[in-house]
Amino acid sequence: MPVVYGKDTPKLGFGLMRLPKKGLVINVEQVKTMVDLFLEAGFTYFDTAYVYPGSETAIRKALVERYPRDSFTLATKLNVSAAPTEKAARRQFATSLERTGAGYFDYYLLHALMENNYQRYEKLHLWDFVKEQKEKGLIRNLGFSFHAGPELLDRLLTEHPEVDFIQLQINYADWENPKVTSRANYETARKHGKLITVMEPVKGGNLANPPKEVKKLFQAIHPDMSCASWAIRFVASLDGILTVLSGMSNVEQMKDNLSYMRDFRPLNEEEQEAIRQAQRILGKSATIPCTACSYCVKGCPQEIRIPDIFAAMNRQLGNGQMAAAKEAYFAVAPEGHQASDCIECRQCEGVCPQHLPITDYLKQAAEMFPG
Ligand SMILES: NC(=O)c1ccc[n+]([C@@H]2O[C@H](COP(=O)([O-])OP(=O)(O)OC[C@H]3O[C@@H](n4cnc5c(N)ncnc54)[C@H](OP(=O)(O)O)[C@@H]3O)[C@@H](O)[C@H]2O)c1
Ligand code: SF4
Ligand code: SF4
Repeated sequence: MPVVYGKDTPKLGFGLMRLPKKGLVINVEQVKTMVDLFLEAGFTYFDTAYVYPGSETAIRKALVERYPRDSFTLATKLNVSAAPTEKAARRQFATSLERTGAGYFDYYLLHALMENNYQRYEKLHLWDFVKEQKEKGLIRNLGFSFHAGPELLDRLLTEHPEVDFIQLQINYADWENPKVTSRANYETARKHGKLITVMEPVKGGNLANPPKEVKKLFQAIHPDMSCASWAIRFVASLDGILTVLSGMSNVEQMKDNLSYMRDFRPLNEEEQEAIRQAQRILGKSATIPCTACSYCVKGCPQEIRIPDIFAAMNRQLGNGQMAAAKEAYFAVAPEGHQASDCIECRQCEGVCPQHLPITDYLKQAAEMFPG
């Protein structure tokens, strides 16, 4: 079944990668409240993945077991990096069906394709596998999520015209970023006539708390609207957006997003100009453009909490809050797991979707926060 899309399609999607937690586990009761508010407001799109810890099971409990199957749409993903063999990769699909209890997936994606892994999706025949599942009716719309540049995207979309939609990282700060290439990727997908689901519209939370000059700029126009709302409305204003996935992690964020997305208004010219000014300010910002996706953390032999360290550094780099930065750093970097404990094996750099020079930043952290 093709994607049903119209200008009135609600454009907010619930990204399930950063769900609220109670201790170390997902707080399913809070997720239920968020799901109820989201559906009541007329939104339907949920996005999880095999590799988001606990997320598929949580959405079964909070959504699938509590609402009719045709009242929502669910997306999940198959990740080749978490599969040592072809058999293991195929098994992810069955496991996702079992964990979610969804019966079928409205949207199914090959997950996080980039330069260093896209060939493995071919080698393990995973494109053929997902096509078979679609023919069986277990997948309604087929897509992939993508973290590289427009040349590879163009090639993949040319080789795989069967793709119904694509998930791209788009946010106003990275629109012209030569590493993230939001604009060029967006234009490539549209050239191929593909609808887009947007991941990380708030840049993993960075744009909810941008440098103070940017905050001031936005607040002068809308004193009551959050900085996150500017980021989400920027992407929702683009043509061809199927949905903007917001990784809401508490009820307040859900309520905030529903307040302006329920009756969505695209950015007007004054607001677009404010975004262009914010882009110029952020272009000069010294903050580390880490989106806190945590892909780098799992394989670090020194168990260094890389995104938490970068978040601590950004308090100083973005807003000049050295005391708060130092406190945050030592809370997440105990002895033996500090920035200076990095052995430069660079496994983290090989998997970072933002292609960040992580080891260089860690050297900077070691200087900023001497032990
Ligand atoms: N396919 C892929 O490779 C891939 C990769 C990444 C994401 N995704 C998908 O895209 C979704 C969205 O991306 P994301 O979760 O990385 O990041 P995001 O939506 O850009 O940022 C979410 C974070 O922004 C902060 N925030 C503050 N105010 C907010 C508000 N009003 N609304 C929403 N967030 C607010 C929150 O962090 P604090 O609570 O810390 O303030 C929240 O966790 C994911 O949940 C996932 O479904 C897919
Ligand atoms: S380069 Fe450093 S931070 Fe990265 S994985 Fe190796 S030890 Fe960990
Ligand atoms: S350093 Fe890269 S891989 Fe690690 S959390 Fe940040 S963006 Fe993700």
